[in-house]
Amino acid sequence: MLKKEVLDRLNEQINLEHFSANLYLSMASWASAQGLAGTAKFLKEHSNEEMEHMHKLFDYVNETGAQAVVGALKTPPNEFKDIKDVITQTYKHEKFITSKINSLVDLTLTQKDFATFNFLQWYVAEQHEEEALFSGLIDKIEIIGTDGRGLHLIDKELGTTIAVG
Ligand code: FEO
Repeated sequence: MLKKEVLDRLNEQINLEHFSANLYLSMASWASAQGLAGTAKFLKEHSNEEMEHMHKLFDYVNETGAQAVVGALKTPPNEFKDIKDVITQTYKHEKFITSKINSLVDLTLTQKDFATFNFLQWYVAEQHEEEALFSGLIDKIEIIGTDGRGLHLIDKELGTTIAVG
């Protein structure tokens, strides 16, 4: 049986993962409109991964006999400066998600909810991988540059990059 504090935060995390899926889908649409097919493919796949993160939490909450709540989502941004802006915003967003996961893990410890603590370890590892992925992509963009040929190379690279998780 989940304690109310933990249930509320799990439901908040469901909403955050759902928003992440929409954010990356919106970015994929922007990339597609710019003719960046590789980037669009990568971001769309990443959006699907976020839906899986959301469903995993959703199933966990319902398995405990509690009720997962599907809440309202704010509209994600749909205008971006350039590809570096998009990837920088994904990295910033993932760092924010990591902070939310960490505080949720912390709460499970103070509440002595060891089952949820154990369940959340997958998310702790996942956030580490995602931060490393996006930080690495920013490094690559800085090395390659985003003018003409550089932009083409980055888009190609993103088209073959596997979304983690
Ligand atoms: Fe669900 Fe991008 O972490």
